[in-house]
Amino acid sequence: MTWGSLSLAFYGIGAAAVATSVATLKKRLELSQAKHKSLAGHSRMARRLAGLVPFYDYGDDRFFCSDGAPADVASRRRGGFARLSTLYRTRFAETVRRTAEASESISDLKFIDAYRVPFQYRRKVTADLPSTAFVQSTRGVTVTDLDGNCFYDLSGSYGINVLGYDFYKAAVERGIARVRDLGPVLGPYHPVVIENTNILKEISGLDEVSFHMSGTEAVMQAVRLARYHTKRSHLVRFCGAYHGWWGDVQPGIGNPVPAHETYTLTEMSEEALRVLRTRRNIACVLVNPLQALHVNASDATDSALIDSSRTAHFDRKAYAEWLKRLRAVCSERNIVLIFDEVFVGFRLAKGGAQEYFGVPADLVTYGKTLGGGLPIGAVCGKHHLMKRFRDDRPGDICFARGTFNSHPYVMAAMNEFLRYLQTQEATALYRGLDTLWSERAQALNRRLSAEQLPVAIANMSSIWTVCYTQPSRYNWMLQYYLRAEGLLLTWTGTGRLAFSLNYTEADFAAVAERFVAAAKAMKADGWWWDNPAITNKTIKRTVLKEMMMRRLFPPPSR
Ligand SMILES: Cc1ncc(COP(=O)(O)O)c(C=O)c1O
Repeated sequence: MTWGSLSLAFYGIGAAAVATSVATLKKRLELSQAKHKSLAGHSRMARRLAGLVPFYDYGDDRFFCSDGAPADVASRRRGGFARLSTLYRTRFAETVRRTAEASESISDLKFIDAYRVPFQYRRKVTADLPSTAFVQSTRGVTVTDLDGNCFYDLSGSYGINVLGYDFYKAAVERGIARVRDLGPVLGPYHPVVIENTNILKEISGLDEVSFHMSGTEAVMQAVRLARYHTKRSHLVRFCGAYHGWWGDVQPGIGNPVPAHETYTLTEMSEEALRVLRTRRNIACVLVNPLQALHVNASDATDSALIDSSRTAHFDRKAYAEWLKRLRAVCSERNIVLIFDEVFVGFRLAKGGAQEYFGVPADLVTYGKTLGGGLPIGAVCGKHHLMKRFRDDRPGDICFARGTFNSHPYVMAAMNEFLRYLQTQEATALYRGLDTLWSERAQALNRRLSAEQLPVAIANMSSIWTVCYTQPSRYNWMLQYYLRAEGLLLTWTGTGRLAFSLNYTEADFAAVAERFVAAAKAMKADGWWWDNPAITNKTIKRTVLKEMMMRRLFPPPSR
């Protein structure tokens, strides 16, 4: 080889290397453009930054005036807080006593107790407005605590309670009676499984079903199947979406291990579609249709409510349009489109989000209410995606088991639920659901606005979230006023309310009455102090400054 041809070869290799790096750079750039600007869109950075946030709290002196409120306002707040505290200790005495007793030993209780309010207020709130984690019975749309207090249920039991607690109590009882002769035999099936499978196939419009023990497991299995069949590594999830607590779908804060094979992209964005069109390593796209209520924002929890910037707005048409485009790109690129309907399935429509938005998925995960009151997760999918082995390569399998899968009691309670869905009564229940719940939300909003209360509801059918219209550092207090008025929320507070569909007009009128009363009491106690100088921006800036000062000047260690 001559020098000339050798240097030509070097030039060629060099040019190819440059071209490859340009292409890689372009892809990197496209990926970074497809990430949401918020911290939730940058999971690794979010985790790193969250790890730097120092603990500090306001103590008794600043607790009531952390927004710079004058002494008279702080004193009104102090009075209101003391009244609430007395009410909690007297009206909920036994419930509080049992909760305190248990919380030393139940790690879940300790965790949720620590994350009900922004951490700066936590110590005083947990001391003076103690946790009430126990209940004893349900009836209609109400739940009764250990002291005999009856609460309207706005928690929906994490979304499980779609048809009303009495329905599930009966479903579990009837179901267990039907499989009693078999008992908890695992491995072989009770025949009730056949009918469940057939109904689920019909509802989902898909060919096969697998049963699991939780929504998290169903999602794990759906993603594993997508990776197995596409032979690709990465899953795409959208910013803010919750898909259970499995590591790959929960990158960032809360997960000690980085999720290397997950892309978190901006939902409803051209850039995300571009990434799906150009990357070859994407196995599946995971969609949680609940995000339509707050696109790209995390599950709204009151512990993150440091100001009033929480927003929500549901546009069914726009989201349906987005899903259609996503569907088209996934089909074009052989990417598996997974709808995670663990929360919204059977709540929005009988056929779930697929029917509601008019877009078919390749795999669908269900859970929560599907179990008829017992724990469940399920995956429905097309034959070719659900298969866990290859005929021509016996060693190439996609393993998935679970001791309690298809537990006879669960299958029987599920059967009661699925059979009910086949009735005319159920069909009637779903008819006009959106209109009914949107009208209820709007009616409540009109009352809140007439009373000049800085609270507004945004809703997606029977799933509601509370937004705040005036900048404030104390919106998280509303959860305690609501409880005092006899309204039950989950530990995430006013961020997510889920109504069961058996709410009558009278039930709802009672809830609206109490909701307005709670907000009025909170306003009267001075928590929404009117000061035009306070904006969400100034609040954020103040909190950031406090954090930086605490990091720079930590208190002396004892
Ligand atoms: C959309 C979605 N997917 C998955 C899960 C996880 O389900 P589970 O809590 O049963 O594991 C949830 C739970 O809230 C969910 O809302």
